[in-house]
Amino acid sequence: MSARTLFDLTGRTALVTGSTRGLGRAIAEGMGEAGASLVVNGRNSEATELAAAEMRAAGLNARAAAFDVTDESAVMAAFAQLDSDGIEIDILVNNAGIQHRQPMVELSLEDWQRVIDTNLTSAFLMGREAAKRMIPRGYGKVINIGSLTSELARATVAPYTVAKGGIRLLTKSMAAEWAQHGIQANAIGPGYMLTEMNEALTSNPEFDAWVKSRTPTGRWGRPDELVGTAIYLASRASDYVCGQLIFVDGGMISVL
Ligand SMILES: NC(=O)c1ccc[n+]([C@@H]2O[C@H](COP(=O)([O-])OP(=O)(O)OC[C@H]3O[C@@H](n4cnc5c(N)ncnc54)[C@H](O)[C@@H]3O)[C@@H](O)[C@H]2O)c1
Repeated sequence: MSARTLFDLTGRTALVTGSTRGLGRAIAEGMGEAGASLVVNGRNSEATELAAAEMRAAGLNARAAAFDVTDESAVMAAFAQLDSDGIEIDILVNNAGIQHRQPMVELSLEDWQRVIDTNLTSAFLMGREAAKRMIPRGYGKVINIGSLTSELARATVAPYTVAKGGIRLLTKSMAAEWAQHGIQANAIGPGYMLTEMNEALTSNPEFDAWVKSRTPTGRWGRPDELVGTAIYLASRASDYVCGQLIFVDGGMISVL
């Protein structure tokens, strides 16, 4: 294979969960520009249809599949629909996620479970359904979105931290079971990125100053700065890379 085409995603189909906005949207659009057809996902059908329509207007090949990634029957129905439409998912990005900030002593079981279900269990469910179909074809790429909290804890975000720590080892578990079938599972650990999820943090001058001083690069990350790593992990360029978590964090996790 020529190095010129190593990163080319032409002919591949990528399903990116939570791609109506934020990091998932940037990753989906980047993969689309690298040649992939896109399946856009979000919980809300209007927002999902709109995002897919905007991507098509920008010249990308995109269709919407709105469903809740925490709902097992909805996940299975979505894959069954793709099957009956003749769409094979080559690249799965488990990106959908939520945050919930509260000290553990005040945290309800319901909120704990909701964050674990959305950030971790969904990746198992989506990965299971995607891999069932990738294994017979002997090809597939799974990219899970972790976080700095895949490695380090921070007060008030315990269920998120536990879920993202789980993502690190779910990725290795996927690699352990699926690499022999030609499927590479890897993860990306974004640092502090400018998205709606972080509005409460970016608008807090103290937190903003902390991120800038704590990150060697001296600034927040932009969603489009994940695209290169996502394309790498979705392409033939990473065919012998399995079970890794690559931080795209301006250096934050590497320094004290
Ligand atoms: N923004 C950051 O700084 C940052 C840092 C590290 C990791 N992350 C992770 O990156 C991912 C994306 O974060 P973001 O900042 O773009 O968030 P965001 O809130 O902007 O977007 C989240 C997306 O997930 C979707 N979603 C949420 N729950 C869903 C569900 N049950 N079913 C289907 N879709 C659902 C939303 O509709 C939305 O499209 C998350 O997993 C997050 O934990 C973000």
